[in-house]
Order: sequence, then structure tokens, then C-alpha cells
Amino acid sequence: MPRSSKKIDELLHDIKSPLTSAIISCEEALDKDPLNENLRDVRESLKYIASLINADSGDERFSVREVISSSIKSAKKFSIDSCEINFSSPDNYIYGNTIKFKRVIDNILLNAIEALATNIVIRVEIVMANSENASTVVKISDNGPGIMAGDLEKVFDNGFSTKDKTMVNSGLGLYICKSIIEKDFGGQISVESKIGRDHGTTFTLVFP
Ligand SMILES: Nc1ncnc2c1ncn2[C@@H]1O[C@H](COP(=O)(O)OP(=O)(O)O)[C@@H](O)[C@H]1O
Ligand SMILES: [Mg+2]
Repeated sequence: MPRSSKKIDELLHDIKSPLTSAIISCEEALDKDPLNENLRDVRESLKYIASLINADSGDERFSVREVISSSIKSAKKFSIDSCEINFSSPDNYIYGNTIKFKRVIDNILLNAIEALATNIVIRVEIVMANSENASTVVKISDNGPGIMAGDLEKVFDNGFSTKDKTMVNSGLGLYICKSIIEKDFGGQISVESKIGRDHGTTFTLVFP
């Protein structure tokens, strides 16, 4: 059942203080042990959670490569066997909210990871159209089991999930992705998927 927004506000408020103290503890520990990679990762994750809580951080021009690389770095912690990034140009820049862009990539990567047991392959391609109204296209493909034809049109619906229904917030991920891509970036998100031979799923994000 969805929590009321007042409850969510209270919850977020109460999370902020222990979160801030955890970040400070991390900073202090890093002062003593500056090369500790795990500690750095913990600090980055905590900071990311803090930025998600602290609502909109404002729009900026950001490097697509940098944000996607950082998403892949976190996703690798969940064991992706192989993850390639192909760029068609040296780098692409998008104007918008970096945190929200990362949320979209994180969600799509997480779904691919959750869908696959072994041999996880995720490809991220970025294509810059060579025309006057150039657009950036991000494609994220996986070699997972695919999505059944009847489910394809429902994957962006609020609450649609084929996973364990007892999970909190299940079926929200792609709904949030669609809302961010369309409302925050004025872009489009679509999905193609195959089951059976050559099974796999591709999400395409088009930014204006
Ligand atoms: N990469 C993928 N491979 C297979 N199925 C997927 C993939 N991504 C999404 N799905 C399907 O779309 C559904 C909705 O995804 P999402 O909105 O993120 O909710 P959740 O992950 O909580 O189920 C998933 O339950 C799954 O059935
Ligand atoms: Mg999900």
C-alpha cells in the first residue's frame, strides 16, 4: 500500500540525521585511511542516497559517459559478468538533472541484473545523430530471458511487476524511469524484447 506523502516526508526527515552522521564518520575514517576503496564506495553511496533525499539538485550539463560509468561501477557490486560501454563519439553531454538521469540508468541496470542468473551482458551505446536537431540515444541491452509479448506494454505501468509481490515498492522502477525521461528531460523511453532464441531486452532512451 502506498505510504501517504506526509509519512514519506517524516521518514525522509528522520533518515537525514543518521545519514549525515554516517557520511561524517566515513569522511573521518577516510582521513585516517585515505586509500581504502571500500570506504570510498560507502561514502559515495551514502552521498548518493543523500542527494536522492534532498530533492532536486538543479539542472546542469553533464557527461553521459561519466554518469553511466558510475552506475555501472555500482551495478558491478551485484556481479555483472561483463558490461561493455560503446560510445559513438568521444563523449555526449546532456542538460538536465544528473541524479535523475543516474536513477534511470540504475533502475534499468538493476532490472537486467535481477532478470539474469548467469552470463550477464549489458551494452550501453550512445549515438549522436549527425543532423541539426541532434539527439542523444542511449541503448541498454541485456541477454536475459526477455519479456513476454503480453507484458511488454505493461512494464512502464505503476505497480506492474512479475517479481515477488511482497517486495516493497515493486513495479515502480520503470514507471519512475518513464516519468523522469518524459517530464524532466522531454525525452522518450521504449522497450524491445525477445524470448526464446536470441532472447534479451533493449531499453532505448532518446534525449532531445
Ligand atoms: N531487463 C529486463 N528483463 C526482463 N524483464 C524485465 C526487464 N526489465 C524489466 N522487466 C520486467 O518489467 C517489470 C517491471 O519492472 P520495474 O518497473 O522495474 O518493477 P520491478 O523491478 O519492481 O518488478 C519487471 O517485474 C519485469 O517483469
Ligand atoms: Mg525494477
